[in-house]
Amino acid sequence: MADYQAWIIYNGNLSEEKFIELASWIDTVAKSYSITTKLVKNNHLLPTCSDTGPTLVGYSEPELPHFVIFLDKDVLLAKQFESMGIPVYNNANCIETCDNKSLTFQVLAAHGIPMPKTILAPFVFHQHQDYTPFHQAAKALGFPLVLKEAYGSFGMQVYLIHSMGDLLQKINELGNRPFLLQEFIASSKGKDIRLNVVGNEVVASMMRISSTDFRANVSNGGEMLTYDPSEEEIELAIKSSQLVGADFAGVDLLFSEDGSPLVCEINSNAHIKNIFDCTGINVASYIVPHILQKYKEHLK
Ligand SMILES: Nc1ncnc2c1ncn2[C@@H]1O[C@H](COP(=O)(O)OP(=O)(O)O)[C@@H](O)[C@H]1O
Ligand SMILES: [Mg+2]
Repeated sequence: MADYQAWIIYNGNLSEEKFIELASWIDTVAKSYSITTKLVKNNHLLPTCSDTGPTLVGYSEPELPHFVIFLDKDVLLAKQFESMGIPVYNNANCIETCDNKSLTFQVLAAHGIPMPKTILAPFVFHQHQDYTPFHQAAKALGFPLVLKEAYGSFGMQVYLIHSMGDLLQKINELGNRPFLLQEFIASSKGKDIRLNVVGNEVVASMMRISSTDFRANVSNGGEMLTYDPSEEEIELAIKSSQLVGADFAGVDLLFSEDGSPLVCEINSNAHIKNIFDCTGINVASYIVPHILQKYKEHLK
């Protein structure tokens, strides 16, 4: 078997175990496929731009990998690899789309994907001063509504807003951070499903239920239950993942009143330990061969 060199990029600024864990799970599987790997912190690579083209400080051609498994959200670094001719999985465009929840919904809405009604807040440099659009948005969505910062994870930047006063206070707190306002799906309160998609297959699923919070995130107290997704849920997760260009993704779905699924978000670097604890399925064992196959197709 050909020996490929791959770099596995992970977040170097967060020391939490779960970030290095994801990288090391991928690493273990990659080694079993005879891929020579190197785990690299995103912040230890410095993209350089000059008239000689894109490079990385301190690395010359022979030391560079054949491809990169990108488990971080450093979009500029991912783009740098791509402009150096090195394929990145997930690709930079996918990471960019998934990292920004507003962008995710914009891409999905263009393809008629079922989702909670979502209104994207106007761009500001410093602070919103004109509240007219938020009165309009609140009228369109009703209270309670969900405010999500465009960039966030583990439920930490997702808020349930009960009144106009609370909404304006939160908007003031956010300053110039981008956010969206969304219909609250009451039928899915504290309950969602996570489907891990690899290529065009759902490889693992779980339900998450919280009795204490409207957010079902496990890191926020949600409990995990094994879950057998319906055909409709499977199709929606795969289609959404493909629309954002993901090779692998953790797709969160909500339950609408009639039980049909709605896309909540797509994670381009979903952590895979929780789903392993719940299902016994190691998602990395699907991700690595899928990437290898994609890379081989790229070589053709
Ligand atoms: N529109 C909504 N209606 C009801 N619950 C929601 C809605 N959006 C998100 N949630 C809940 O909040 C959780 C976190 O939201 P999500 O968009 O997945 O952000 P994060 O990236 O922080 O996980 C979801 O898993 C879900 O339980
Ligand atoms: Mg989520």
